Amino acid sequence: MPTFAPRRLAAALVLTLTAGLAAPAAAQPLPASSAPAPAATPVDRARAVLGPFKASLKATLTSALAQGPVAAIEACAVSAPGLAAAAAHDGVTVGRSAVKLRNPVNAPPAWVVAPMAELAAAPPKEGDHRVVALPDGGTGYVETILVGEPCVKCHGAEAAVSPEVRGLLKQRYPADQATGFAQGQFRGVFWAQVAPTGK
Ligand code: HEC
Repeated sequence: MPTFAPRRLAAALVLTLTAGLAAPAAAQPLPASSAPAPAATPVDRARAVLGPFKASLKATLTSALAQGPVAAIEACAVSAPGLAAAAAHDGVTVGRSAVKLRNPVNAPPAWVVAPMAELAAAPPKEGDHRVVALPDGGTGYVETILVGEPCVKCHGAEAAVSPEVRGLLKQRYPADQATGFAQGQFRGVFWAQVAPTGK
């Protein structure tokens, strides 16, 4: 039966290949540098870059907090801009901003101001976002950041922030506006600027 063996072999190969492909794809997201975005909408492209940026920020904050909030302040101040730069790809640049800023370098790009004000005025909701058309034909995407449980250690009301952290924040950020927050409040935004495709 010469025809059976190749068929079986082919079937076995397909099984092996699909099993091999499906398992890692389901287990973890692709790294930022290789995530393909064929025929993706601008919002898809924005989220494809923001996802790994958020994950890397969270991982950095979590591991730094394990060494205490003072060490975490150092880690956050140093890593956040680098993580944003590292996440940028596929014509998409990303960042974080806020209405009540801690570090003035995180001031919003001009196009972020209006959608951020809208989100700040709306009832705070996870995933709330605005999409705006940019003058260059590209797209701007702005998404709410809420205050979570670990955040109040460094952004909370006076009672929630240790004297040590307060001292260090005051020293590093003399114009700090980003304290006094409670869990669930609007803290700021993630933004993504998506370049136009084609032409
Ligand atoms: C260990 C202290 C610490 C914790 C915990 C912390 N932050 Fe911050 N946060 C900072 C510091 C320091 C900066 C300024 C970073 C810089 O210099 O760019 C900052 C900046 C920010 C910014 C950028 C805008 C600005 O005001 O400069 C946002 C947004 C933000 N934090 C949100 C959060 C959220 C949400 C959480 C909880 C998930 C959180 N932070 C937890 C210390 C902290």
